[in-house]
Amino acid sequence: METTDVFRRPMKDLRISVTDRCNYRCRYCMPLDQYVWIEKRELLTFEEIVRLARLFVDLGVGRIRITGGEPLVRRDLDRLLGDLSKIGGLKDLSLTTNGSFLARSAPALKRAGLRRINVSLDTLDPDKFRAITKRGRLEDVLEGILAARDTGMAPIKINTVVIRGINDDEIMDLVEYSREHGLQARFIEYMDVGNANDWSLERTVTKQEILDRIRSRYPLEAVGREESRAPAVNYRFLDGAGQIGIIGSVTEPFCSTCSRVRLTADGQMVTCLFASGGHDLKRLLRGGSSDVEIRSFLERVWSVREDRFSDRRWQQIRTDGYHRKDHRKIEMITLGG
Ligand code: GTP
Ligand code: 5AD
Ligand code: SF4
Ligand code: SF4
Repeated sequence: METTDVFRRPMKDLRISVTDRCNYRCRYCMPLDQYVWIEKRELLTFEEIVRLARLFVDLGVGRIRITGGEPLVRRDLDRLLGDLSKIGGLKDLSLTTNGSFLARSAPALKRAGLRRINVSLDTLDPDKFRAITKRGRLEDVLEGILAARDTGMAPIKINTVVIRGINDDEIMDLVEYSREHGLQARFIEYMDVGNANDWSLERTVTKQEILDRIRSRYPLEAVGREESRAPAVNYRFLDGAGQIGIIGSVTEPFCSTCSRVRLTADGQMVTCLFASGGHDLKRLLRGGSSDVEIRSFLERVWSVREDRFSDRRWQQIRTDGYHRKDHRKIEMITLGG
C-alpha cells in the first residue's frame, strides 16, 4: 500500500529519534538555555517504537534511520536495532551518530543487524573539534569510524556541515581522509535549523562552491540521488576511489521528492525538519488505540501534508524576503536532522 501527501509524495523513509540528549554541545545545533529536555517517562519504550515502526512499514515505509540527539547515549540501543531489523518489508536500517561511542558499540550494533552508518565529522583538527563540539575528542571519533569500518559496515558516510570561516578550509583534507580510509565524504550546506543557531546565508558554502573546489583536484562524474529522492547528490571519482555526496539543502532544495517522516523520542510524528509542531502518537499508544486506528491516523496526517519549507525558503532568499526568526521550529536535537 502506498500513502501519498497533497503533492503526491509517498511516505518512504522514517527517521526515529531515540533521545534528545547528546554528549556534545555543537553550537549550530544546541539551543542550550531555553530548551526543556524530554523527561525519561515521556520517552517511547523500545516496544512502542517497534510497534509504530511496523505500522509505518505497513503504510509503505521501506527505510528507517535511527537518530538523536546522539542515539548511542540511549542504553541498549542494539536491542532496538535487533528488533527493527526483523521487521518484514524493511529494506534499509541505518543510524546517524556523532561517533564518540562507536569504538565500543560498533560490534554489537553490527551483530544486531546494522549494516551501514553515517558519522558527523566537521573537522580533522583536534582543537577545532573541541571548539565546535565543546566537549568532544577528535581521536574518539576517528577511532570509532575505523572500528565501524572494521566490522564490515558499509558504506560509512562522513557528514560534514560546512560553515564559512569555520571549516570550509578543510574540505579537501576531509576528501583526502575519506578516500584514504574507504569512506564516503558528504558535505552539507549549513542550514538554519532550530531557533538558536547563528545561521546566515553568508555562512552557507554552496553545493556548487563545494563541488568546484573538489573538482579542481579530482575529476568527478554525477551519479545522482539514491532512490532518486535522497538529500545527497552523489558524485563518483573518475580515478575509481569511491564517491562523495553533497547535500544542498539551502541552494538546491529537494522538497519535491521528500518522502521523509520523523518520529521524536517522545512520540510526536513530524512531517518536516522545519515543522513547528508534531502529531501526538504516544497519546494513541498509551490510550489503548488499536493498530487499525493508529494506522489510519498516520495515513490521515500524511495525506494532508503540504510541507515544502526549503523550497519556499530558497524562493524567499532570492526575492529578499526570508526572515528566519518569523517561524518557530522544533529543535534539531528533538528531530535528529
Ligand atoms: P542516507 O540514507 O545515507 O542518504 O542518509 P541521509 O542523508 O538522509 O541522513 P543523515 O542523517 O546523514 O543526514 C544528512 C543531512 O541531511 C543532515 O544535515 C540532515 O539534517 C539533512 N536532511 C536529512 N533529511 C532531510 C530533509 O528531509 N530535509 C532537509 N532539509 N534536510 C534533510
Ligand atoms: N545544518 C546542516 N546540517 C546540520 N546538522 C546538524 N546541524 C546542522 C545544520 N545547522 C547535521 C549533523 C548530522 C546530521 C544529522 O545533521 O552534522 O550529521
Ligand atoms: Fe550532538 Fe549532533 Fe547536535 Fe552536535 S550536531 S550537539 S553531535 S546532536
Ligand atoms: Fe522535506 Fe521539509 Fe526538508 Fe523540504 S524542508 S525536504 S519538506 S523535510
